[in-house]
Amino acid sequence: MTQPASLPHHIAIVMDGNGRWATQRYLPRVAGHKQGVESLRRCVRASVERGIAVLTVFAFSSENWNRPAEEVSGLMELLAVALGREVPQLQADGVRLHFVGDRTRLSRKVSAGLAQAELATAHNGRLTLNVCFNYGGRWDIAQAAARLAAQGRPITESSLDRAMSMAHVPDPDLLIRTGGEQRISNFLLWQAAYSELYFSERLWPDFDEAALDGAIAAFGRRERRFGATSGPVETQQLPQVA
Ligand code: IPE
Ligand code: IPE
Ligand code: MG
Repeated sequence: MTQPASLPHHIAIVMDGNGRWATQRYLPRVAGHKQGVESLRRCVRASVERGIAVLTVFAFSSENWNRPAEEVSGLMELLAVALGREVPQLQADGVRLHFVGDRTRLSRKVSAGLAQAELATAHNGRLTLNVCFNYGGRWDIAQAAARLAAQGRPITESSLDRAMSMAHVPDPDLLIRTGGEQRISNFLLWQAAYSELYFSERLWPDFDEAALDGAIAAFGRRERRFGATSGPVETQQLPQVA
């Protein structure tokens, strides 16, 4: 397949709208999360086919503990089940899994499952899939700073960048949020400094290949300037001061 020159190297997604998807169907919210896993599987496959190198998804935020206990335990269970079920297909597709987030609050069973899945896929190189789980952008900045301070090292932009939990990949080029909300909700606060933002009204379980292609096409029409000017830098005519 020929690739457009402007294909994003790294796509990040806030997979939002599972609860509303379920509620619209008079189903429990956890049914929406289950459907969300299906949507993620489809999106991973589509990303591999399109030649995306890195996909980062927000699966559970530091603040999602504030949801009803039943929903939180449903999400934990779903993660454990998905880990057991999805690894063979990820292997076949050449996907390398990384879990990003604070693991200290996760059960031993879930933590062990994460470590195992990472190890099993460590040699894959077609797509890096970062699953942000019990992750928050503020947590990441704070843990990176605390680690540097504990080592007595200076805190600079580049040392912090390297101590951050996403240091193994370049910053996201395109950040998509599904579900209609236009906010970051504590996702990649540091890394999204120059990401192109794309908000979709689609609920995450309905976000299909065509919707992904729509986001990639929109990215292709953006002009990224990174704080500079567009085109060649022109010599500015300064006003004459008397
Ligand atoms: C996103 O869907 C998934 C998680 C936060 C775990 P939501 O559960 O937030 O769905 P809505 O926003 O309530 O529809
Ligand atoms: C962001 O969605 C977190 C995930 C998708 C995992 P939320 O539904 O938690 O965000 P808010 O509450 O609408 O800001
Ligand atoms: Mg939500």
